[in-house]
Amino acid sequence: MPAMTDFISFPFYDLFHENGHIPRVREQLPPLLAGVRRSILEIGAGSGLVTTSLADWTPAEIFALEPSDGMRALLLSRLASRPELLERVTVLSCDALSVDLDEPVEAIVMINVMYALEPDYRRRLWPVLADRLEPGGLLVFTWRAGGPPEPRPLQELESRRVGRHTYSVLSEVLGSDGEAFEARYLYRIAEGDRVISEEEITGHAYRPGWDVIEGELTGAGFVQADAPEGFLAWRLA
Ligand SMILES: C[S@@+](CC[C@H](N)C(=O)[O-])C[C@H]1O[C@@H](n2cnc3c(N)ncnc32)[C@H](O)[C@@H]1O
Repeated sequence: MPAMTDFISFPFYDLFHENGHIPRVREQLPPLLAGVRRSILEIGAGSGLVTTSLADWTPAEIFALEPSDGMRALLLSRLASRPELLERVTVLSCDALSVDLDEPVEAIVMINVMYALEPDYRRRLWPVLADRLEPGGLLVFTWRAGGPPEPRPLQELESRRVGRHTYSVLSEVLGSDGEAFEARYLYRIAEGDRVISEEEITGHAYRPGWDVIEGELTGAGFVQADAPEGFLAWRLA
């Protein structure tokens, strides 16, 4: 589940992610979803940066699941700015393990969420998702090979100007243990050299290796399909 301190990052989210993983997702995800027409469950929809694109790329009904109240507010605000999508996108406030749908979906999409799932939670999630998919249904998610990053000192990830202010995110990797690593994030707003606010979040994230993911997914009844680097695609057998 998202940490209570995550709200610190919400004002920064769209500022940085629109330049971060989202352009690659917009380029590489549509071919993976070619042929999807009926329904998509999006796990961890966040502020809806991917949600509206899913609705633009496909005619499918979309179930956008986002457990964080703050993120869901951003998501609903984005959907409100696209009134033509409101009939087709249902927003679910539960977490991924608790998802309950009236009928199985054709595809499940999970972008930039895996890092937040504790190993035991993730292991329990795959059978739940298998149960929510139509036979032969598609599961697509982002995955980064190579395991957790090495410890490294605080460095600026990105900064953006907003009027007279500069919004910056800095991060430090404190250490790792197996597939888990601990990182510290600083969220800073400054005007010139004057820091207006600076808040920090320290938390754990997870980067399971290929063998782990393959074992978990095949164990839950999935068969791997083709996907470009950075994504994994699986079909329910
Ligand atoms: C980095 S954001 C990604 C948002 C969006 N998919 C995107 O790419 O812009 C990760 C999201 O996953 C959500 N999340 C974390 N744990 C979750 C869980 N157990 N079930 C569903 N969503 C979860 C968080 O609340 C957050 O909105």
